[in-house]
Amino acid sequence: MSVADEMARAVERLDVAAVRRTYWEQDEFVVLEHWLPADLVARMVGEVDRARPAVHHNYVPRHKKGGSVGYHALVERAPTILDVYRAPAFLEFLRAVTGQALVRCPESDPHACALYFYTEPGDHIGFHYDTSYYKGTRYTVLVGLVERSSSRLVGQLYTRVPGRAPVEVRLATEPGTLVLFNGDKLWHAITPLGEGEERVSLTLEYVTDPRMTPVKRFVSNMKDAIAYFGFRAVFRPGGARAAR
Ligand SMILES: [Fe+2]
Repeated sequence: MSVADEMARAVERLDVAAVRRTYWEQDEFVVLEHWLPADLVARMVGEVDRARPAVHHNYVPRHKKGGSVGYHALVERAPTILDVYRAPAFLEFLRAVTGQALVRCPESDPHACALYFYTEPGDHIGFHYDTSYYKGTRYTVLVGLVERSSSRLVGQLYTRVPGRAPVEVRLATEPGTLVLFNGDKLWHAITPLGEGEERVSLTLEYVTDPRMTPVKRFVSNMKDAIAYFGFRAVFRPGGARAAR
């Protein structure tokens, strides 16, 4: 069975109306615990190991420390993960839950589909929104793949709802667990990794409008080069990214 079919079956097992209700009750945030089929998750974890040599480590004082592998490296090393990102039934599910005509991020965006490695003590990311540099809103799907850590995804809901006190959620992103949220609404962090621990997560990004103004493109490229994937990955020979 193709990955697209596996994803279609996984979507069929969901009560989409109930997921949508929870998503909106929680100000555009929902968790599907252990949702992806174990067999599919096992193949994705196999690709995590194939992607390891491409990990780019980075450290931004007081904000983040960890490794990442962006879209372009995954194209060569992680076909299953890319098929999950592109699965038509999954995109339809995301559209039904968010009520938006979501599309995948442009392939020139290393965050479109990326792995984040927390492998050294202290690896973490501080509180942030997944701010959209696109004209449209950006939605994040976070998938747990390796979870042998005390790190937690900490999210604060309702931070931009006037008159409502934020509510904090803390969760381990177990293999196959999926978290969907509106990047401009969930204030979130990953707490520091402990000694001898490991955590690897996958993020899939979708947007309502993939166009970007040139100034925002520049800011976004600089941020990615410094904080995530390195200058070589972001400003690739031929200027593939700048040209889009
Ligand atoms: Fe984030």
